[in-house]
Amino acid sequence: MTKSMRLSCANCGAVHAKWSGRCDECGAWNSISEDAPLSTGPRSKGLGSVRGNVVPLSDLASEDEPLPRDNSGMVELDRVLGGGLVPASAVLVGGDPGIGKSTLLLQAAAAYARKGLRAIYISGEEASSQIRLRAKRLGLADAPVQLAVATDLRNILTTLEEEKPSLAVIDSIQTVWLDTVESAPGSVSQVRAAAHELTSFAKRKGFSVVLVGHVTKEGQIAGPRVIEHMVDTVLYFEGERGHQYRILRAVKNRFGPADEIGVFEMTGTGLAEVANPSALFLSGRDAGSPGTTVFAGIEGTRPVLCEIQALISPAPAGSARRSVVGWDGGRLAMILAVLEARCGIPFAGLDVYLNVAGGLRITEPAADLAVAAALLSAREDVHLPSQTVVFGEIGLSGMLRPVGKTEARLKEAKKLGFESVILPDRSKTGTATGMKVQMMPDLATLVGEVFGAG
Ligand code: TYD
Ligand code: MG
Repeated sequence: MTKSMRLSCANCGAVHAKWSGRCDECGAWNSISEDAPLSTGPRSKGLGSVRGNVVPLSDLASEDEPLPRDNSGMVELDRVLGGGLVPASAVLVGGDPGIGKSTLLLQAAAAYARKGLRAIYISGEEASSQIRLRAKRLGLADAPVQLAVATDLRNILTTLEEEKPSLAVIDSIQTVWLDTVESAPGSVSQVRAAAHELTSFAKRKGFSVVLVGHVTKEGQIAGPRVIEHMVDTVLYFEGERGHQYRILRAVKNRFGPADEIGVFEMTGTGLAEVANPSALFLSGRDAGSPGTTVFAGIEGTRPVLCEIQALISPAPAGSARRSVVGWDGGRLAMILAVLEARCGIPFAGLDVYLNVAGGLRITEPAADLAVAAALLSAREDVHLPSQTVVFGEIGLSGMLRPVGKTEARLKEAKKLGFESVILPDRSKTGTATGMKVQMMPDLATLVGEVFGAG
């Protein structure tokens, strides 16, 4: 190892003093490798102190006009961006390889181009013929998008300088390399330097740049997490491999709410927008079977209903399993513990499987009560009255806590034909909903009243 090398994690970028098999910052395995420091080129001359631009905060506050926005016409995408793309902003779109990032961004570039934005799509992963073939399949063959295939940063910047786009898509940031950085393309230092150069160039020239980044658990290629702080907006494109739904989620947005989601469906001719995700996530639901509940959740600014499924089965001696898809395993363990400690319902010796149907991933504590109801329903083999939605947070004492946006959740449930709701005491249901409302102070009440157990 030369002196200028250091060890860092390709997943999270943490710097380590010595090599180990697992990064103790992010927990990734086999992700630590040698990494050249960011600047190995010659130092810029002189250290003259240049005064930065200083303005009083009050001046900025007086500019309270709304931000200008460019709409793509893809409603789901515009919403996730906070109401359209802010000119001269930098966006990172991360996701597993093969999840559909290139398809999404090619469609987005075409949509913006059709709205009159000068868009260029620069690929380092596919040949132009391949991209054209894809565009044809997506019905975008006639879209006025410029295409370029390049990986060398100098070529990319020259192209951008000549083309003067309003929007540039770089697919992917892991393929871009600088000859001033010693490590291999895709390494942390290359990705970091390339992202820095591209975003600052875009800001300087006043165009928007969208960087595509692969997330890899193996850490062979630098994860997009190392560049999240350089961009204005971070979107993750996610979904279960076997499902046809894809969710575009804002995890950071300087120009809009984070946690907003856009829902897409994969089709043979590209991604189709899903205008009513609740209907999609509830389609094919088996309302009459025990172990399922419908959770009225909020994703970003929008209510989304989805089905939570639980399965409980006797475990072989001494090896009870807890398996969760679409929710937090730690939160499940907490709810099982509360059910046992506060309601006297043990799950020892039982395998517990929990699944959020449709490939959605829920992070709201508001799902606690729906999860508890699904677990009880599965364990007691009693099904909840169909057409009932459930939501509410559970405390360690077993008390239920009201959650935000109760009215919006109820409205969505009613719109989809639900007739009753189970929720915590003191919830603000607002004006009459026309639904049967069952408010409960604690989990024990749910156990007694709804399941007749405990
Ligand atoms: P791709 O966009 O290449 O994924 P990524 O850029 O994230 O690696 O999509 C992967 C494959 O899935 C590709 O062969 C095209 C196919 N696909 C469809 O057929 N329909 C779709 O709607 C999407 C999103 C992808
Ligand atoms: Mg791709």
